[in-house]
Amino acid sequence: MIPRPRGTVTRGTTNPNRLRRVDNWLVATYGRVLREAADPLVVDLGFGATAVTTVELRARLARVRPDVRVVGLEIDPVRVARAQPAADPPGLSFARGGFELAALRPTLVRAMNVLRQYAESEVPGAWETMTGALAPDGIVVEGTCDELGRLACWVTLDPTGPRSLTLAARLSTLDDPAALAARLPKALIHRNVPGEPVHGLIRALADGWRDAAPYAAFGARQRWLAAVRKMRSTGWPVLDRPTRWRLGELTVPWSVVAARGPSGLEPSPDGQPAPGQQQYQTGEQRARTDHDEPARLGAGDRECR
Ligand SMILES: C[S@@+](CC[C@H](N)C(=O)[O-])C[C@H]1O[C@@H](n2cnc3c(N)ncnc32)[C@H](O)[C@@H]1O
Repeated sequence: MIPRPRGTVTRGTTNPNRLRRVDNWLVATYGRVLREAADPLVVDLGFGATAVTTVELRARLARVRPDVRVVGLEIDPVRVARAQPAADPPGLSFARGGFELAALRPTLVRAMNVLRQYAESEVPGAWETMTGALAPDGIVVEGTCDELGRLACWVTLDPTGPRSLTLAARLSTLDDPAALAARLPKALIHRNVPGEPVHGLIRALADGWRDAAPYAAFGARQRWLAAVRKMRSTGWPVLDRPTRWRLGELTVPWSVVAARGPSGLEPSPDGQPAPGQQQYQTGEQRARTDHDEPARLGAGDRECR
């Protein structure tokens, strides 16, 4: 029996190529897991108003595992029906489902821009439900990006919990890496305040980028590489290799960014920021937040980018 979908319908905004950074990272980092999987089943959870990013995910993953089966799950049945013309079974299909993953046991789950409009307190339950449905050795990537996918952040989880945080930026248009703070996953977005580890991470990256300004003459990639190397030299346990760093990525173990204690910074249900929240936001971050989250809607129709 198919279980009742767990979660809430949110706005379905999506864009072609918006998720290329996370997809490319998935192929590079977990391509081997997919290649070796007994059942190459992948779920794209919350594909949104159109099937476009699910179609793209299938194409990217098929390069490493031609018989990959990608299932786009969406909690909104209208969007599931609308996606059907894009289906190409058995490699690509669409169905209704939520965090329980519709009784599938995938090796990879991509859930991008899904949890953003949930409460921070709902994140652990959603993570546990998704990772509890994984195949052995399976992983979930859950995160947020901007409209065009130039800034993206995601958490990678396995059945034991969160393992790493990745920040990724399009370097040719990057002004200040602090802009990534506005795209942190829901578990961290309210934690960009002094005393929280992720605030230290973003500040170290922004400081490193600023100090590496002379490298800009050699290109933004050299500048980012210099900033990441500086972070490593000051003790940040940066993961992955320079071949990934030069693409504008930074991955660290989850243990160094995990939130400390309960959040006092989540907006209250009436949409007002908690006391002190705005004081730590840059003007740019405030502008982005205002743009992305204009108002809280009813519980059955949550606003989502
Ligand atoms: C902003 S869209 C994201 C679309 C696409 N993933 C992207 O990043 O461009 C969020 C979608 O997630 C869906 N959604 C929210 N909660 C969900 C859940 N628990 N299970 C499945 N879909 C969900 C919403 O209905 C909405 O269509």
